[in-house]
Amino acid sequence: MVYYYSATGNTRYAAELIARQLGTGCADLLGRIKNADYSDIRSDEPFVICAPVYVCMMPGFVYSYLERTAMKGSRKVYFVFTSGGYAGMSGSQAKALMQRKGMDYMGHAEIKMPANHIVSDAYPPTPDDECRRRILAARRQCREIAAVIKCGGRLTARHVFAAEKAIIMPFNPVWTRFCQPSRDFHVTDRCTGCGKCARVCPLNNITMTDRRPVWSSPCAHCMACICGCPREAIEYGDITQHKQKYNILKYVKNMPLDEPAELFRGGTAHINGTEIYYTVCGRGRPLIMLHGNGEDHSIFDSAVSVLRTHFTCICPDTRGHGKSAPVKEYHYADMAKDVTALIDHLGLEDVVLFGFSDGGISALMAAARDERIGTLIVGGANTDPEGIKLNSRILFDMEWMFTRDPRLALMSNEPHITREELARIRARTLVLAGEKDLITEEHTRNIAAAIPRARLKILRGEDHGSYIVHSRKIARIIERFMKVK
Ligand SMILES: Cc1cc2nc3c(=O)[nH]c(=O)nc-3n(C[C@H](O)[C@H](O)[C@H](O)COP(=O)(O)O)c2cc1C
Ligand code: SF4
Ligand code: SF4
Repeated sequence: MVYYYSATGNTRYAAELIARQLGTGCADLLGRIKNADYSDIRSDEPFVICAPVYVCMMPGFVYSYLERTAMKGSRKVYFVFTSGGYAGMSGSQAKALMQRKGMDYMGHAEIKMPANHIVSDAYPPTPDDECRRRILAARRQCREIAAVIKCGGRLTARHVFAAEKAIIMPFNPVWTRFCQPSRDFHVTDRCTGCGKCARVCPLNNITMTDRRPVWSSPCAHCMACICGCPREAIEYGDITQHKQKYNILKYVKNMPLDEPAELFRGGTAHINGTEIYYTVCGRGRPLIMLHGNGEDHSIFDSAVSVLRTHFTCICPDTRGHGKSAPVKEYHYADMAKDVTALIDHLGLEDVVLFGFSDGGISALMAAARDERIGTLIVGGANTDPEGIKLNSRILFDMEWMFTRDPRLALMSNEPHITREELARIRARTLVLAGEKDLITEEHTRNIAAAIPRARLKILRGEDHGSYIVHSRKIARIIERFMKVK
């Protein structure tokens, strides 16, 4: 279970993303804090507590709330802090508190988000572009945080030196006590008296009098009232008139909260008598990416991180590979049929099909039969075992003799794709190979020559997979060929 407090949305956003990735619930602590409700909180999986950083520490009211509230269920607890870039002692504070409560502290993460403390000129607001950049980076970090939590790992963050603590420890209480007056808050004619500011104040500092907010103290300067007012009717002295009232919703309106979970959605397709695992990531025209012999979809991780902005990247583990069901025999024709069946299963049209090595062979075979494949890109593919350079063929044969791995036998015995089959490919095609590829250049040239709408590109300095496996270079090549960049 993920519990969070958030004034201007940064922490809520992170908490919800992490909860979605973990497939667990997400609860806002605002109501409990406001109502001094210290009844037990419960989580059967490890607790994840998310909070912003105030003056280099956890907000005092979040700390006091956690101090007084019993945590039932799991003994493990993770913390996630969002800040404008400096989380100071928040982690060590959380650790000490949780250890006192007898919890197993699993570490904390610090996420750099846009700064929201608009009532002070000491902290300049984060520029718009930088806000977007930080939010996008935070989304990636949330996925990484969730992945660590999912596998029971520990979160780690920057070490805080004793000298920093020596400054923060006196600085925080002095700042909090003397530098956060509420007397400068005032309301303009735009106020409609909706009362939202009073509802979001964690310290119940705002009362509505004659349908106007009135501030009292102590105030945490959390920014929930001034940045959350739907009419932007609250100002602070003469500091905020010309400042944007920060709220993450302004930036994520067109980025649905559940996008990262969707980005990495995927599943298992029951097709052709077997189970094919696949991941789906991104938005746009469907792009199926087929890995090579003995690999799985993860070789495309770097490429997908780029391509997902323009394409829905669908990366299967081919039969007998990765998380797909094991098979007794391997044939390229079966793998090609799996591609067609996956297209049926997902209801795709106008597919871009990219295949590397063995994936390239299946891609050629699939494209020869399936007109829904509108664009074809193959890298390091061969249409006959003779297309592989002799030294590599000998190596594969020897490896097979020792391991009896049927996947190696596949490369020695197949494919046998004819020129007529290649001539049936209607898709716009790009045939790639590295200059130092294990496929002969002549063979690659012949493949490109046999496909009616094919272009050939031999990549200087590259070998069989150097530009593809865990590489962004292939993403740039695909983008250029597809003219999306
Ligand atoms: C009172 C106050 C103090 C802050 N102090 C720090 C700080 O010490 N270091 C920092 O990097 N950001 C600081 N910030 C920025 C916030 O931690 C950051 O913007 C956070 O993500 C806001 O979270 P929220 O949108 O969930 O409320 C402070 C913000 C406020 C309101
Ligand atoms: S939230 Fe804004 S509009 Fe609503 S009562 Fe408060 S100041 Fe007025
Ligand atoms: S009055 Fe102070 S504590 Fe209450 S919402 Fe406004 S800034 Fe936060």
